[in-house]
Amino acid sequence: MYVIAPSILSADFTRLGAEVVDVIAAGADWIHFDVMDNHYVPNLTVGPMVCQAIRPLTKATIDVHLMIKPVDRIVPDFAKAGADLITFHPEASEHVDRTLSLIRDSGCKAGLVFNPATPLDYMDYVMDKLDLVLLMGVNPGFGGQQFIPGTLRKLRAARERIDTYAQESGRHIRLEIDGGVKIDNIAEIAAAGADTFVAGSAVYGAARDTDSHRYDSVIAAMRQALANGAGQ
Ligand code: DX5
Ligand code: ZN
Repeated sequence: MYVIAPSILSADFTRLGAEVVDVIAAGADWIHFDVMDNHYVPNLTVGPMVCQAIRPLTKATIDVHLMIKPVDRIVPDFAKAGADLITFHPEASEHVDRTLSLIRDSGCKAGLVFNPATPLDYMDYVMDKLDLVLLMGVNPGFGGQQFIPGTLRKLRAARERIDTYAQESGRHIRLEIDGGVKIDNIAEIAAAGADTFVAGSAVYGAARDTDSHRYDSVIAAMRQALANGAGQ
């Protein structure tokens, strides 16, 4: 039930294809693909062409996180480039409901992303169009930041809304966390309600330090921490 989604933001871009293949071979579930536009967030990363380039390398879900404004124009391009799941920030869309429909009509799963200061209320009226809710554990824009502790309370609140909705509808919405996830806090984050974990620097950074490009041990350690629980 737990999904680990390494963020290629922290990968070695000179060998991006191998970084994707290696991390999935090491036991990761999804590839998290961070798209930044130097407008919605103060950083610039990759677009549909790079998504299309890595698509043939893996059958794993490509989880596209759009930190861009506007959103709608580029959604079909990511769908064509092979994205499985597309998430966006509600502040970046003029019309949240319409953007969710656009993503789903393009054949992808859809999700909303909540910054640390964004209230969860946006999700309440679009539950039927959500496959996933993503809470940021940091302010978006950069990898390697510290997890903001208040996110745990927000995760619990999001988990409650998702569970209530699941009881009513029978639909299960994933609850993803992105930013500052490490081996030593992943269990606590899971206990607060997350079931899907993005980790950039914790996965790719660790292997870079040793220059091994091996990700098995860090992913195994995360799974072990999840299995052990938060010591509740
Ligand atoms: C931040 C990105 C994250 C980032 C996470 O804006 O959305 O996906 O890669 O990096 P870490 O895991 O290093 O906090
Ligand atoms: Zn992300």
